[in-house]
Amino acid sequence: MSSKPSVPNSLNEHWMPFSSNKDFKANPRLIVEAKGVYLKNHQGQTQIDASSGLFCNPLGHGREEIIDAITNQLKTLDYAQPFQQGFGGSFELATRISKHTPGNLNRMFYTICGSTAVETAIKISVAYHRARGDSQRFRFVGRERAYHGMNIGATSVGGMVNNVKTFASVLMPGVVHMRHTHLPEHKFISGQPETGVELAEDLERICSNFGAENIAACIVEPIAGSTGTLVPPKGYLQRLREICDKHGILLIFDEVITGWGRTGSPFASQEYGVTPDLMTMAKATTNGISPMGVVACKEEIYDTIVDNAPKGSIELFHGYTYSGIPISVAAALAVQDIFEKDDIFNRAKNLTPYFQEGLFSLKDIDVVDNIRGYGMMGGIDIKMDKKPGAAGLTCFKHCYEAGVNFKATGDCLIIAPMFICEKKHIDEIIEKLRTGITNYSKSKKN
Ligand SMILES: Cc1ncc(COP(=O)(O)O)c(C=O)c1O
Repeated sequence: MSSKPSVPNSLNEHWMPFSSNKDFKANPRLIVEAKGVYLKNHQGQTQIDASSGLFCNPLGHGREEIIDAITNQLKTLDYAQPFQQGFGGSFELATRISKHTPGNLNRMFYTICGSTAVETAIKISVAYHRARGDSQRFRFVGRERAYHGMNIGATSVGGMVNNVKTFASVLMPGVVHMRHTHLPEHKFISGQPETGVELAEDLERICSNFGAENIAACIVEPIAGSTGTLVPPKGYLQRLREICDKHGILLIFDEVITGWGRTGSPFASQEYGVTPDLMTMAKATTNGISPMGVVACKEEIYDTIVDNAPKGSIELFHGYTYSGIPISVAAALAVQDIFEKDDIFNRAKNLTPYFQEGLFSLKDIDVVDNIRGYGMMGGIDIKMDKKPGAAGLTCFKHCYEAGVNFKATGDCLIIAPMFICEKKHIDEIIEKLRTGITNYSKSKKN
């Protein structure tokens, strides 16, 4: 048996994703163990996980129920190719997911991750319009400061400039972006801003400028997560829904982050009372342990595509080798059990006021420029230092040293505690954030 070293001999060969490889390799941060809300790094330091990994482990690390479910699944059926055949688990999981999805979004297409879920939602939108005899709709509307993943489709509808500028020449044609919803007056607001609903009119303008009849779908994250918890202004999502209905445009909610309880409701859709036509999920679906994405579709979308295909033929020419594979399904079913057994969504809702209060208590630190929060998610903007991103990375390193682990995007610290946290864990996260951010501030003065 080969045992894998926790500290490898060479760091050269692995090209790390979304990382400053040179900076990391000069001073690596390796995580060697994870249990509950804690991580241990290669220097033996215990850290509290303040972002549920990448928003994906809300039930904590090392959950025995999930490990057992995966182990048992591997012993009976490790893999079954998913085309023109199936296995029971994926159907059972789809039924269980449909109990939580809003409206009649009761048809589930499995993918590998969030990016492939978004890509699939894009393709289903086109296939749906085509199946009802409307092949003209090729345009997609995204939004500035959106993150939808990193394949070509998801990158195209996304709106983070560093993610798109290198690849501009190969992005999907026909994509138009609405403005993001963060206004200068949105300072230190917990919950939905009162101002900014008019930003939804960007969609109406795009309809006028490009022809609504050419637009297949509009995709938004109900709360933009990766760019630092940009919470929708009151009435904004409702207005998008109205404009989409008026013009026959599909509305896609990307709930890869907001799905499965992050807002305190199963999905942000229910939290804000707006039902999309398609909804993506990933991350917490398996507690982040095994890759899986899902696109939940309205029944009439499925019916239109399936009923209009020639009898006996494949209805949607799309799928992945790892669409709904047994190991991910087993993890997701175990996650569903935990959601129910531990009343997880209510747990997240009940913990929200305590977390939000702690988060906003950091506003007095001089380098903190802004804080936003909703449910169990928050973003802390650190004042820019010379160029965008420098302050965020340096501040993240100080926090890492202080024993709190999370991700920074640009100059924003992304905070998303696990739902299994107790109040003492929230206290620890906030205290260590205070130490790390304050140490960063002091380092700027020295
Ligand atoms: C809203 C949203 N959509 C899609 C994705 C892409 O997911 P993945 O990294 O699993 O491909 C992410 C990842 O953070 C996300 O936040």
